[in-house]
Amino acid sequence: MRSLIDILDFSVEELQELIDTANDIIAHPEKYSERCRGKKLATLFFEPSTRTRLSFEAAMYELGGNVIGFSEARSSSAAKGESVADTARVISCYADIIAMRHPKEGAPLVAAMNASIPVINAGDGGHNHPTQTLADLLTIYREKGRFEHLTVGFCGDLKFGRTVHSLICALSRYEDIRVVLISPEELKLPSYVKKDVLAANHIPYVQTTDLESVMPDLDILYMTRVQRERFFNEEDYLRLKDSYILTPERLWNAKADLSILHPLPRVNEISVAIDDDPRACYFKQVLYGKYMRMALILKLLQEAGRL
Ligand code: CP
Repeated sequence: MRSLIDILDFSVEELQELIDTANDIIAHPEKYSERCRGKKLATLFFEPSTRTRLSFEAAMYELGGNVIGFSEARSSSAAKGESVADTARVISCYADIIAMRHPKEGAPLVAAMNASIPVINAGDGGHNHPTQTLADLLTIYREKGRFEHLTVGFCGDLKFGRTVHSLICALSRYEDIRVVLISPEELKLPSYVKKDVLAANHIPYVQTTDLESVMPDLDILYMTRVQRERFFNEEDYLRLKDSYILTPERLWNAKADLSILHPLPRVNEISVAIDDDPRACYFKQVLYGKYMRMALILKLLQEAGRL
């Protein structure tokens, strides 16, 4: 059974196929409005979410399908001690496809190993968030028209930022990608991502704490939130939370065609004064996420023989 647990589960060609489908949905939504009639998506969210859960739900409704699910662990039988494996087997009796978010790294993989329907990883702890990467990729493609020959800056919490880990994996397969890692010392990209993804794919990268000095090089600036929920110590969070705050003044040396992305939610790291700057792409990114999730649901249901 085909699932999406890691962005590398899909080839570059398959990612392009999803982008092409999403672009066709944007151009001709009426062609898709009945495609999932009678099908059910189960959204199993053991961790808070606004965009991912609601965009999955909107995606399924716009395909003519239905949605069941829960939005917090305490309203499911996980609160009584039910395992992820058993939950996945049970939900397979009710739904055609699962989107799961869980605070534990690897939980969606366990679900996929036990479900008889496709499972989509909607974010697992500080590990991966492949469907956010689908939103990011469509945004980059529509803004830049390519994935090659780009210098991409990742700024903020690169240690716990699962969206960063997944997007770096995805971009590592394209030609002439350069990565700039901007973070406090304590929130640097994990060594395994540097070694297994960047070094293994010969992607040139630099690490710095100074956003201003690298700003002129960037084609894309991917801002991230410092994630309070992943810290063991509140004092550390308070010390690091405002390490980077992007304001219009701090864009003085940025390229005129810089694209500013952020997976959201934001706290302080992008001033609202930037929202009207034509380089701000983060609300478009939200909308594109819904279209990519529609394309993904269609692909996985087709491959499972359920459409
Ligand atoms: N980007 C993202 O995953 O947002 P939510 O946590 O609101 O789903």
